[in-house]
Amino acid sequence: MKPVVKIGLIGAGFIGRAHGLAINAVNATFADLPARAVAHVLCDADGAKAATQAEAMGFATSTSDWKKAVEMADAVIIAVPSRDHAAIARYAFSLKKPVLCEKPVGLSAAEASALAKEAKAAGVVTAAGFTYLRAPMVAEARNIIASGKLGKPVHFYGRHFEDYLASPDAPFSWRLDRTFAGRCGALGDLGCHIISIARALCGPIASLSGNIALVHAERRTGGAGSPLRKVENEDVASAVVRFASGITGVIETSRIAHGRKMDLAFEVTCERGSISLHAERLNELDVYAAGDDGFRKVLINPSHPDYAAFLPAPGHGLGFNDLKTIELAGFLRGIAAGQSSYPDLGEAARISSLCEAIVSSSETRRWIDDPEAFHYV
Ligand SMILES: NC(=O)c1ccc[n+]([C@@H]2O[C@H](COP(=O)([O-])OP(=O)(O)OC[C@H]3O[C@@H](n4cnc5c(N)ncnc54)[C@H](O)[C@@H]3O)[C@@H](O)[C@H]2O)c1
Repeated sequence: MKPVVKIGLIGAGFIGRAHGLAINAVNATFADLPARAVAHVLCDADGAKAATQAEAMGFATSTSDWKKAVEMADAVIIAVPSRDHAAIARYAFSLKKPVLCEKPVGLSAAEASALAKEAKAAGVVTAAGFTYLRAPMVAEARNIIASGKLGKPVHFYGRHFEDYLASPDAPFSWRLDRTFAGRCGALGDLGCHIISIARALCGPIASLSGNIALVHAERRTGGAGSPLRKVENEDVASAVVRFASGITGVIETSRIAHGRKMDLAFEVTCERGSISLHAERLNELDVYAAGDDGFRKVLINPSHPDYAAFLPAPGHGLGFNDLKTIELAGFLRGIAAGQSSYPDLGEAARISSLCEAIVSSSETRRWIDDPEAFHYV
């Protein structure tokens, strides 16, 4: 019999639901897992929402008290706004319970980095929710680059654009409030994903120059006529970066890009070709080898990382929620092995440092060296 891991899921919002679906799917999808996930307790500050979602997703019980949920669980998934990540994670560490925490981890790079150190000291396995690193075609891009078939990378371009705040009439939410989301806006919510991919494909970033803007400085707290509230973090950000390998790159993010729904995209130019992905077409990779007439579209198939666990036929495709199933499988393998799975809280801290360095560089109009170790004080 496989050991059972009773999961405590904290947060039943957008991403909490994706985790709940993943807990239900992971054992059947990855039949070879060394441990079996059980939907044990679902917690949400809104107790009625917790109860309804718990019933819908087959959790044994629900609560509105995250401490109780942590105590009842063998492992904890933190899927609430950043403000409460640290308190929940620290309580789980004190009880030696593994933690999968959503991105961006904690309210700041300093907090994420403290949590990474505390988890290590407590000997607790961690993982962080950089969902798109789990996409088979992102993993395949990484494999192709690592294989050297296209030569070494010489340039990175990446963006993550969405339009959920493109309308000036979109109301204020916790994502715009530093108390709940931290200093980074579009960067903390979206930019961190493309930064996670930049690091995965091209390695550490050695220096950067950032440029940010807050376009809609005030938003209504509700419908028309409701009070206005100041927005506390940026709508758009861009950075020119230099990787430790010496190559250059450009990274951009926006939460106000009209028409862009899930526009995470990258292109890595290598010595003998290029590789490009657009997440609105998550199951395709465009590959160009020098001498070809143009980019060749590679459709997902069972030879690509993790896809065969879902489907035996090529081109049928995975979706966002499937990526959370892949993420959870990695977390469970990590728990069974007693080793944090990539990306862990240490990686999350480096990504948050890069986000904060972009903001600080823009504010001070200067390049920042060693931005992966940058923390606001
Ligand atoms: N990896 C991804 O692709 C991805 C996508 C969306 C959100 N996220 C991250 O997930 C986290 C949550 O975002 P969301 O979009 O699901 O937010 P959301 O607003 O949709 O849901 C948050 C839920 O948490 C509950 N909550 C808040 N504080 C709580 C507390 N102290 N105890 C228990 N419940 C609490 C709220 O009642 C709400 O139901 C954030 O860190 C966000 O950045 C990640």
